[in-house]
Amino acid sequence: MKTQRIVEILKSEAVDTDVVVKGWVRTKRGNKNVAFIALNDGSCMRNIQVVVDLQKISEEELKPVTTGACLRVDGRLVKSLGAGQGVEVQAEKIEIYGTADPESYPLQKKGHSLEFLRDIAYLRPRTNTFGAILRIRHAMAYAIHEYFNKKGFYYLNTPLITASDCEGAGEMFQVTTLDLNKVPKTEQGEVDFSQDFFGRCCNLTVSGQLEGELGALSMGQIYTFGPTFRAENSNTPRHLAEFWMIEPEAAFYELEDNMEMAEEFLKYLINYALDNCREDLEFMNKMWDQELIERLEFVVKNDFKRLEYTEGIEILKASGEKFEFPVEWGCDLQSEHERYLVEKHFKRPVILINYPKDIKAFYMKQNEDGKTVRAMDVLFPKIGEIIGGSEREADYGKLSARVAELGMSEKSLWWYLDTRRWGSAPHSGFGLGFERLLMFVTGMTNIRDVIPFPRTPQHADF
Ligand code: 4AD
Ligand code: MG
Repeated sequence: MKTQRIVEILKSEAVDTDVVVKGWVRTKRGNKNVAFIALNDGSCMRNIQVVVDLQKISEEELKPVTTGACLRVDGRLVKSLGAGQGVEVQAEKIEIYGTADPESYPLQKKGHSLEFLRDIAYLRPRTNTFGAILRIRHAMAYAIHEYFNKKGFYYLNTPLITASDCEGAGEMFQVTTLDLNKVPKTEQGEVDFSQDFFGRCCNLTVSGQLEGELGALSMGQIYTFGPTFRAENSNTPRHLAEFWMIEPEAAFYELEDNMEMAEEFLKYLINYALDNCREDLEFMNKMWDQELIERLEFVVKNDFKRLEYTEGIEILKASGEKFEFPVEWGCDLQSEHERYLVEKHFKRPVILINYPKDIKAFYMKQNEDGKTVRAMDVLFPKIGEIIGGSEREADYGKLSARVAELGMSEKSLWWYLDTRRWGSAPHSGFGLGFERLLMFVTGMTNIRDVIPFPRTPQHADF
């Protein structure tokens, strides 16, 4: 007989039929006559209750059925008399696929701290919390593709191995097959990359944007959605060394259009979660963040505040707030500043635009004032920066002058500059950090808790 997923069985009205369920034991309780096993198969938050008549299946046989063990249960689906569930399974036969010794199984008890679970990240998807987070993560990935498909954006896969540094911050992981114990050197004593796999120095990408722009300037509207790598040694609750980024890029979009899309996109995703992940969101709301659902609903219903960087600095300076990092025109905003604007001043998401050119990447469109660029950061409550983007410099002369001014290598960017030589066009795009989005949607405050296998400095075991 076909195995049914628990989520389907719980929905089904097919009582008094035979069923097969398979899953992991959450709890077992009972008395001399009957045992109740709560079984979960990851398909939803809820467990199915398996009722065992101890006349039919002996207590001895049930001994290895402990928390964490994996079972197959053949039985009959019946209406449940117990509170909180519509149906339950009366067991006819139980097969134990895998036991979980209570002495050693780390998830024997409930209520572990998130820190403890981080140390056993390879097991934590078996908990209610991480089951909920990973189901929401899946739903958000699906909704992202759905949104862009509806808007006529094509999914473009950009390379993970590249020779360019999109953000110009030099925070890259090098990719090499050279023997690190015997690195070949040139006559000048430098590393001889001509002997390396790609014949040049390569790294893991920090962003798919540069290649994404090629897509926009040919297919009109594209988006990327893939892993991104940054070797920034910042051990913060908001940074990962390996994270996922969604980067739409559209020809003929100016900064205004870009802002509009960013706001619409974020609202679409949050709405999708509210409509489709209700049970998991309610669990997160109850267990971890009592204002979660209210916050999600608030963001969906209210307009984002749009603000010039220069005005933002004035507000921060006039705030009377004691910031750890002082604020001056020209400074990069820290998350304490971003959160002040969002949480205390405007009490809503903020889109901050027209930043000083010296704190932003080389590719952003230069404003007439010679000082600022058409950058756009979307700042969210509890998170700070969730999206970074801009209108792009479309003028060949201005762009190559900026590349030279910053001492960047034209040798690795020639192909990018070429896009401005033939059929250049106004265009814009942005990058949404997938895990930052998930922090917002799940209410988790540490980014390590919204990705199945976090990669951070000194942590890459599992
Ligand atoms: O602001 P960033 O650096 O922008 C770019 O990479 C552009 N090329 C995007 C574009 O215009 N196509 O990064 C974009 C977003 C940030 O707003 C943040 O949400 C996320 O990526 N992000 C990180 N998330 C987790 N860990 C890190 N180390 C992150 N660095 C950036
Ligand atoms: Mg940024």
